[in-house]
Amino acid sequence: MLELIPRNPSYMKGYKEYCQEFWDNNITWFKPTNPINIDANWFERTADWYSKKEKGLIQGCAKSFHYWAVDDDKFIGEFQLRPELDDELMMGIGSVGYSVRVSEWGKGYGKEILKQGLEIAKEFHLERVLLTINDDNVVSSHICEMCGGRLMDKVTVETEDEGVHVKRRYWIYL
Ligand SMILES: CC(C)(COP(=O)(O)OP(=O)(O)OC[C@H]1O[C@@H](n2cnc3c(N)ncnc32)[C@H](O)[C@@H]1OP(=O)(O)O)[C@@H](O)C(=O)NCCC(=O)NCCS
Repeated sequence: MLELIPRNPSYMKGYKEYCQEFWDNNITWFKPTNPINIDANWFERTADWYSKKEKGLIQGCAKSFHYWAVDDDKFIGEFQLRPELDDELMMGIGSVGYSVRVSEWGKGYGKEILKQGLEIAKEFHLERVLLTINDDNVVSSHICEMCGGRLMDKVTVETEDEGVHVKRRYWIYL
């Protein structure tokens, strides 16, 4: 059964495999940690950084909460919540990020992660969350719409990984 849990060192092997799958397949619209940087001490080395990020104490980084999606002992994906939207997030990565490791695509995990993530967002007493989705990412737009996403608009933006592209901006009311 899929669940969203706080980052947990016992899933490090699966987390590294998940990152590797994204980098090997060059998925431009979602880049997790570069697996080259994940060594035996990575979890401990980054724990303080993630904890500061949740408190909004990292300069230049939005306040952000990271959850890992696991199914029993298998690492499946991630859910990220940025509860405080600002202009940069509105035009950039929005309030929510979610992903499934490439080898587990098409099994219903993506929709389940977003559904469970929205329940977490409710616990933050948010009225709505913003998802920004590359116009070519039809699967994510489909999942977002299944979870109640209402298209606000489409904007053209440029990012390092995706170049100049059109982004759909969806609100999901909680
Ligand atoms: C987007 C992502 C999370 C989807 O995960 P997933 O586990 O494969 O998705 P699911 O299996 O839950 O759902 C796929 C849905 O899309 C549908 N789908 C699959 N391929 C599709 C396609 N080419 N076109 C349209 N719909 C498609 C499936 O039929 C299913 O819908 P249904 O329940 O109505 O049948 C995954 O592809 C991913 O991690 N992508 C990279 C990260 C990313 O894009 N995150 C979102 C950023 S906004």
